Amino acid sequence: MADKKRVLSCIQPTGDMHFGNYFGAVKNWVNLQKEYTCMYGVVDYHAMTMPYNPKKLKENTWELIYNLLAVGIEPENLFIQSLVPEHAELGWILNNFASFGRVENMTQFKDKSQQSSAGKEGFISVGLFDYPVLQAADILIYRADYVPVGEDQKQHLELTKEIANRFNNQVGKEYFVLPEMLRTVTPKIMSTADPMKKMSKSAGEKHNISLFAEEARIRKQIGSAVTDSGAVPEGELSVGIQNLFTLLKAADKMAAHDSLLQTYQEGNLKYSELKATVADTLVELSADFKQKKEALVQDKKSIKNQLKQSSHEIRLRAQQTIKEVKDLCGLSNVRF
Ligand code: AMP
Ligand code: TRP
Repeated sequence: MADKKRVLSCIQPTGDMHFGNYFGAVKNWVNLQKEYTCMYGVVDYHAMTMPYNPKKLKENTWELIYNLLAVGIEPENLFIQSLVPEHAELGWILNNFASFGRVENMTQFKDKSQQSSAGKEGFISVGLFDYPVLQAADILIYRADYVPVGEDQKQHLELTKEIANRFNNQVGKEYFVLPEMLRTVTPKIMSTADPMKKMSKSAGEKHNISLFAEEARIRKQIGSAVTDSGAVPEGELSVGIQNLFTLLKAADKMAAHDSLLQTYQEGNLKYSELKATVADTLVELSADFKQKKEALVQDKKSIKNQLKQSSHEIRLRAQQTIKEVKDLCGLSNVRF
């Protein structure tokens, strides 16, 4: 049997998980596990590139692990980046194959350095600049074939391919696999409080619905969703209403989606009815995730051990790559 293709993706432990993250990325990660060899990293080295709090970083890392397990990521596919320090080692090596001018032009760096310098210390770290090279190392170290990410990561994927190409040319061999971006089919989920904005944690509490929020809070956020944002051309949905329909579709509630849409087209849709259906859908999903998470949290010790084991197994693959890369680059390889 031919080897399965390899999928790799990563997420930063920088806060709560919301329905935008779930429908936009993580739900797809769960499904890909059926078909591919998958590796999903919680990238704590990346989370150090913006001003941060060490205690909070560790808490967020483990919180995210529980969240990912609760929504259906298999423990053997999950690892913590800093438990595989070879990512940082390969990152250093790849720095020498990354063009300064190209890295300087990354839009995520431009956006985040503005945010960072606007902070109270007015500080931009070299780590923030180097972030995409470490991301290239995350991908190349496992020779990933596919990287499922949102559109915003396209530039980082292109840079990864350029770095891989330059390395391959230097060593005279197609050593690194050139990874392909796997676009998520689900469109962007918008904030229910302001449907012109993307649902996100950085925009503030009311602009995201936590996957693990209390039922009453989910109902309140959907109940107060903005539906009448600006003039809407005849026959089209307002962005707020469109977003509520998108949520139903993303949750695979196609029957409810189609019948409510038909009611809308007939001019008989009560927004309260649409909102109630969306709220029920999200509450039902969230209840299931919460229940799974509660069970996991009861068993912290065994989760820690599982993550230790899976990170170790995944690390063995990374170590193999580093050994080969060092040989190819003229670095010394000895066993102590
Ligand atoms: P972030 O929360 O920005 O670190 O993103 C983590 C993952 O969730 C990335 O793959 C994003 O593309 C995805 N994501 C974040 N917010 C949304 C959203 N509002 N709609 C769809 N996908 C999202
Ligand atoms: N930069 C990605 C984000 O902001 C996170 C990330 C880090 C990543 N390393 C990666 C994504 C490797 C895919 C592959 O969402």
